[in-house]
Amino acid sequence: MPPTTDTTGTVRVRVHLDPADWSRHLAEETRRGLTDDPPWTPPVWFYDEVGSHLFDRITRLDEYYPTEAERSILAARSDEIAHLTGARTLVELGSGTSDKTRLLLDALWAAGTLRTFSPVDVSEEVLRTAATAIAEGYPGIAVDAVVGDFGRHLDRIPTGGRTLLAFLGSTIGNLDPDQRRAFLASVTDALAPGDWFLLGTDLVKDEARLLAAYDDAAGVTAAFNRNALVVMNRELGADFDPDAYSHRSHWDPVAHRIEMHLVADRHQRVTVRGLDDLVVDLGAGEHLRTEISTKFTAEGVEHELLAAGLEPVSAWTDPAGDVRLTLARRP
Ligand SMILES: C[S@@+](CC[C@H](N)C(=O)[O-])C[C@H]1O[C@@H](n2cnc3c(N)ncnc32)[C@H](O)[C@@H]1O
Repeated sequence: MPPTTDTTGTVRVRVHLDPADWSRHLAEETRRGLTDDPPWTPPVWFYDEVGSHLFDRITRLDEYYPTEAERSILAARSDEIAHLTGARTLVELGSGTSDKTRLLLDALWAAGTLRTFSPVDVSEEVLRTAATAIAEGYPGIAVDAVVGDFGRHLDRIPTGGRTLLAFLGSTIGNLDPDQRRAFLASVTDALAPGDWFLLGTDLVKDEARLLAAYDDAAGVTAAFNRNALVVMNRELGADFDPDAYSHRSHWDPVAHRIEMHLVADRHQRVTVRGLDDLVVDLGAGEHLRTEISTKFTAEGVEHELLAAGLEPVSAWTDPAGDVRLTLARRP
């Protein structure tokens, strides 16, 4: 379907998510997950308005190092990134509040090359708020926001002149290896030769720190995790009892990933009306996997980029070596 577009001042918001098509896609994914063994749910259910605000709180928790670590790299390296890329268009996938992105915008703005900023997110409310705030802060920059799925709509993103496509926050870690392969291939296709890709990845580290980052003392991550059940109740007509599940973070040393689980405290029988009355039985102690968050090595990141046809050009870590930003180019 043609996108719906509205333009407010210098903000244009294009909606590429046809609500019916998007609902069908999410329903199919959720059915696939809930009927798998062990069952899982797609992470997109985290990010309604409440979930987006909870995620924002998570990023400010002491235990959750990735956001501040990535911010410190951007603070130190954005001028260099602006100089290397000379980008006219900055596209940000899974942009959320685009908070850290302001460091890149500042540098590209100061360098005088930036013309367009295009944040892309499935969460329309958060995207609209962020896009409006950025348009106010950067007069003269066209903000061309896209409500879309980075898994399916990369062919619709605006590229024009030199493009820098940013994917921050280690959101790539939420994809499994097959999904990452497909996603990175679509990034390469979306870029013109000479365009740039900036990828934020969390790195493998001490298990205790990883577990704490996904299970904070104040319980914000637990609330974020249970909110996915509230969203599925609302959007899919499910009858999860969010209070009947305990939050757990689990490290899988083979797949190099943290998994977030919701563990049933006692037997749960859940009916999902929107999935043709699908019934999910979870015995006491059985769990739903609600998120994977893969942790990478430097070699692993470079290998996956090269396999997708992207050439790593520069990379930086924060002083503690917790996260990595890799700047790659489509040759
Ligand atoms: C972990 S947050 C990261 C936000 C921000 N980039 C940062 O670094 O703090 C993931 C973001 O990706 C968005 N998102 C999740 N799945 C998406 C998809 N399939 N397509 C587009 N955006 C998606 C969420 O709405 C959320 O804003």
